[in-house]
Amino acid sequence: MGEKITISLIKADVGGFPGHSAVRTELKEKAIERLEKAKREGLLISYHVLTAGDDLQLLMSHRKGVDSTDIHGLAWDTFEAATEVAKELKLHGAGQDLLVDAFSGNIRGMGPGIAEMEFTERGSEPLVAFMMDKTEPGAFNLPIYKMFADPFTTAGLVIDPTMHDGFIFEVWDIKDRKEVLFRCPEELYDLLALIGAKSRYVIKRVYPRDTSPLPKDEPVAVISTEKLYFTAGKYVGKDDPVALVRAQSGLPALGEVLEPFSLPFLVSGWMRGSHNGPIIPVPFRYSHCTRFDGPPRVVAAGFQISHGRLVGPADLFDDPAFDLARSKALEIADYVRAHGPFEPHRLPMEDMEYTTLPDILKKLESRFKNV
Ligand code: 13P
Ligand code: 13P
Ligand code: MG
Ligand code: MG
Repeated sequence: MGEKITISLIKADVGGFPGHSAVRTELKEKAIERLEKAKREGLLISYHVLTAGDDLQLLMSHRKGVDSTDIHGLAWDTFEAATEVAKELKLHGAGQDLLVDAFSGNIRGMGPGIAEMEFTERGSEPLVAFMMDKTEPGAFNLPIYKMFADPFTTAGLVIDPTMHDGFIFEVWDIKDRKEVLFRCPEELYDLLALIGAKSRYVIKRVYPRDTSPLPKDEPVAVISTEKLYFTAGKYVGKDDPVALVRAQSGLPALGEVLEPFSLPFLVSGWMRGSHNGPIIPVPFRYSHCTRFDGPPRVVAAGFQISHGRLVGPADLFDDPAFDLARSKALEIADYVRAHGPFEPHRLPMEDMEYTTLPDILKKLESRFKNV
């Protein structure tokens, strides 16, 4: 076993081009300038600036541990610098996800999304960084469940003795800010009772079981769970989530980690964060959201970690093996779109509470008569 390494994936929408579709290269260049400086100064071991739809993604490796003020501060400063560029270009929603005026030590709850984990680097350490645009953190519930708990997805749960005992899921109630652990497979049905309600219960981390050869206190997957509307009190973008997943040797193989995305499952988000639609797995070059500001999409960047360095990325959905999922997604998109403003394409009323819909309803209030 090697040294401990921390991987931090911190993302924010600091301005879209055009509209909410993609990120301008000028923003990416500004971020690279900042992170390169931090690498020269020894704060970062390596970094990759990526984009998914209109979200700017900072993937960093370092030895500062999770919740490091230095790393979070670097991300915050980088987003602020990119916001300045976005304002100058008058990009759409410049600074959208920076909800507070000043950084105060930890970036959690300040707007950006964050997935971060510290672990002991193995002899071979494959890592996948997933980035979704136009959806919410609970969109990762289904694929993470399938990777670590579904034997029809992950053959290793059946045939690999190092993972045959299953995994532990840490689930957050993101509304009441509580967490609960489930040992699977024996608590699968309890887990599913919660995480099927994906707008409220979100898988935060996955841990190995006692019988795994991996250190028990080190997560093997982590998902961003920031919900902007709980912070801002209103709809300000849809908390597009990210996840880090480790693979192989006691964990799902790379192909088992990717397999859940062969199903273009339904997620909420899409236009104005108010619609259900299929998630489409795409290569980075197709990650800009166009049709009806979507459909929601997911990109996957693959790495091997070597002495803390993120070697990569591999554009994992740039593969004809996902073509069928993509065409299915387009067909489903067409079908649900035909429903226009009707549920279940449009989200149910309780999920519309944080959008601009209540303003419309208020206007109609005085016209209602008792029946
Ligand atoms: P390799 O033999 O190519 O390492 O693959 C092992 C494996 O688990 C593939 O899923
Ligand atoms: P983002 O959350 O990606 O900024 O999208 C917002 C939106 O309203 C799209 O229609
Ligand atoms: Mg946006
Ligand atoms: Mg976005």
